Amino acid sequence: MWGGRFAEGPSAIMREINASIPFDKALWREDIRASKAHVAMLGAQGIVSTADTKTITDGLDQIATEYERDGVPEDWDLEDIHMTVEARLTELIGPVAGRLHTARSRNDQVATDFRLWVRTANARAISGLTALRSALVERAGEHADTIMPGFTHLQTAQPVTLGHHLMAYYEMLCRDHARFAAAQNRLRECPLGSAALAGTGFPIDRDTTAVSLDFDKPTRNSLDAVSDRDFALDYLMAASQSAIHLSRLAEELILWASQPFGFVSLPDSLSTGSSIMPQKRNPDAAELVRGHSGRIIGACNALMITMKGLPLAYSKDMQDDKPPVFEAAGLFDLSLAAMTGMIAESTFKFDRMRAAAQAGHATATDLADWLVRKADIPFREAHHITGEAVKLADTKGRSLEELALDDLQAIDARIDDRVYRALSIEASVASRASYGGTAPDQVRLRVAEAREHLEQQTVAMET
Ligand code: ARG
Repeated sequence: MWGGRFAEGPSAIMREINASIPFDKALWREDIRASKAHVAMLGAQGIVSTADTKTITDGLDQIATEYERDGVPEDWDLEDIHMTVEARLTELIGPVAGRLHTARSRNDQVATDFRLWVRTANARAISGLTALRSALVERAGEHADTIMPGFTHLQTAQPVTLGHHLMAYYEMLCRDHARFAAAQNRLRECPLGSAALAGTGFPIDRDTTAVSLDFDKPTRNSLDAVSDRDFALDYLMAASQSAIHLSRLAEELILWASQPFGFVSLPDSLSTGSSIMPQKRNPDAAELVRGHSGRIIGACNALMITMKGLPLAYSKDMQDDKPPVFEAAGLFDLSLAAMTGMIAESTFKFDRMRAAAQAGHATATDLADWLVRKADIPFREAHHITGEAVKLADTKGRSLEELALDDLQAIDARIDDRVYRALSIEASVASRASYGGTAPDQVRLRVAEAREHLEQQTVAMET
């Protein structure tokens, strides 16, 4: 395709290092779609005759049928998907095929194809996130009253509800959703027609190609259009952030599924057994979600480093933009699907959660708060008195609630029997009714709002 000025062909090493067809064949649909939009515009502008436009378009349709049926052939000599399609077009329709590349370069071609591909990846991420957010909201609604220990430093801190804990992830994933939507919003300009780097002298119509490829308008600067990959990084950064959230949730499920916790039983369909230990039921799917986040972040890092030193405009380094995005997208889609299954189908063990919340003196803060509110004691002093009570409970092997009133009054005479109403874990969670707090009524309000929000988003996605 470019051998005119060369006396000899490339060495075997050159052919191998140059070939991107092994991975960029994934862009074949986008490549053919963009070529059809381009040639239709060339025809409409009178740059290519109507007859040739039809021949080229029919040839491209035939190639699409072949690829759909047989896959894309991988010939290193043809370098990439763009030359692979053009070579096949030449076989099918002869030299007329050469007219397709008028007013175009592989540089604006790949910039267009890859944007189209990333656009579908953003859309898949948004719908996968929506499914996971729905699963979280459903389980949170079921468990608005289920009490579990809330942790700081992974030490029992205060009782919370499982619904509140699950809704925390719902909130994180809403922000992830917004990040992908914002990435999608910045993907509204079409680079096609920027040609190699400087635009073209042919009388092309970039508005038409932009709109026919579902963009809003053409890009405004040809150098920028062929040489930035920020749209791919937008995707990878959003995926990295979301993968970090998924990894934290995965880590919690792994911990909760361990025997000492016993808070959850993950679905059989997303667990595996051990070949040697018959009792084992391993949370492999969750571990792989946690593991995949590392690869997704690595992919983002790889592309950032590829891009950071490149002068304008196109450099061949940029061919390396695709493997990290393809890899991350596959891993991210799968992670979302696996996590959705785990959330939807796990069995939460509320008896174990309750017992754990009961065990760690999780209501110590409630005792201190009671002393402040009912006995008008400054919080610092109340904290100290409560510490004494916790120490006594530990010596007696009891919970705070199980201490006799005499024992409590021996620590501080201002305590009376109304205190017991504050010490139960139910009273504790119910009392935390500040906006966004863990009280079951608060959780139910947030769940109702979330359901409504999801409903609106689904309607918006469908229209
Ligand atoms: N396979 C190339 C890529 O993905 C296509 C662009 C080639 N352009 C060039 N000037 N050699 O980046």
